[in-house]
Amino acid sequence: MANPFNYLQFATGDQFYDRREVRKDLLSRFLSGQTNVVLYGPRRYGKSSLVAELVGDLEKAGIPCVTLDVVKVPSIDMFVSAYATKVYRRLAPVKFEFRKLGMFLKSLRPKMSLGPTGETGLSFEPSGATVGPEALTEVLDLPQKLLSGKGRAVVVFDEFQEVKDLLPNDGFERVMRSAIQSHRNVSYIFLGSRYHMLRRMFTDHNRPFYKSAVTILLGKPPVEESVRFVIDRFASAGKSIARDAAERLVGKIENIPYFIQQLGFETFRLADDAHRKSVSSADVDSAFANLSCFNRDQYEQLMLTLSVSQKKLLIALAHEQTDEFGDVYRRRYALGVSSTVNSAKSKLMEDGHIELSDGKYVVADPFFAQFLRT
Ligand SMILES: Nc1ncnc2c1ncn2[C@@H]1O[C@H](COP(=O)(O)OP(=O)(O)OP(=O)(O)O)[C@@H](O)[C@H]1O
Ligand SMILES: [Mg+2]
Repeated sequence: MANPFNYLQFATGDQFYDRREVRKDLLSRFLSGQTNVVLYGPRRYGKSSLVAELVGDLEKAGIPCVTLDVVKVPSIDMFVSAYATKVYRRLAPVKFEFRKLGMFLKSLRPKMSLGPTGETGLSFEPSGATVGPEALTEVLDLPQKLLSGKGRAVVVFDEFQEVKDLLPNDGFERVMRSAIQSHRNVSYIFLGSRYHMLRRMFTDHNRPFYKSAVTILLGKPPVEESVRFVIDRFASAGKSIARDAAERLVGKIENIPYFIQQLGFETFRLADDAHRKSVSSADVDSAFANLSCFNRDQYEQLMLTLSVSQKKLLIALAHEQTDEFGDVYRRRYALGVSSTVNSAKSKLMEDGHIELSDGKYVVADPFFAQFLRT
């Protein structure tokens, strides 16, 4: 039987659950007019999946969308080529007058290319030696120009925090902020997995994007929804899981969507290999133990890169989550003075190894927490 869980791709369709309110809210914002949104949240809570679903909703409502994952374009040249290509392919009107393109994009050279299945497509590459602010502005203005004042479009930048490496001294952010300010027909969604870095881009008053977008924080789904999802997924593949086992599955990995899919996948696999139709808490425990072992290597490598105070803090949090690092807590885990703990905490949060969850500091990856406990 095909495994009904999937943690490797964005969740869509019946793989996707909950997020109804935020999805509706986002849809209505983008349908009602020009607005920019930054979507934050700890890693693996489902930001990219949610936006992929939203893009489907918007396209259905007749609003074309363009998505660019900035991690995949690590240089400014790659950024402008990829962005111009995607924007052109999605937003150029059917009867687009090709000569206009020369007016919109002086610094890029169009190129006809043959796709793997024989289809032809237009793509772009920089024509000059270096891409500077002018060429970047031109490319960023392309969606607004192609719409020529009619209709709307939505542009999604995933892993947006990575743009800071594309030009020095916040150069990219400055150029982009001033370009998109005048885009009356285009709305933007910014998201990314470096939660704290992304948040600073939009909340630090020295940064170009300060207060330029509505901020939405994506938390965890309600536990009940997650439990329901687990039960339904097993049922869809002809297996039954008792409610207490489903609750155990969700609880063990702190109700984080990515880990629900991962632990669900492994639990299903074990039960299926044993040709069992009903799934128990013992299966969940075995699957959890397996997954904690699978990543051992990676966790050991990670530990080698951390300072002693960071390691101590992680081990403490794996044993006991806390809302503050008072005297008693610091003494119990021999963490040292509070300034040491604070700087270790800041670094670990910046790198996404710990998160605040329901007001408490926790190790972000529940399998890493298990590794730290043993
Ligand atoms: N609403 C959802 N329903 C079901 N599964 C989900 C949902 N959201 C996320 N997932 C699962 O979690 C995985 C990670 O989700 P996604 O990549 O969307 O998270 P993210 O917040 O963008 O993560 P990152 O911070 O690493 O970029 C998905 O591949 C999917 O398996
Ligand atoms: Mg993501």
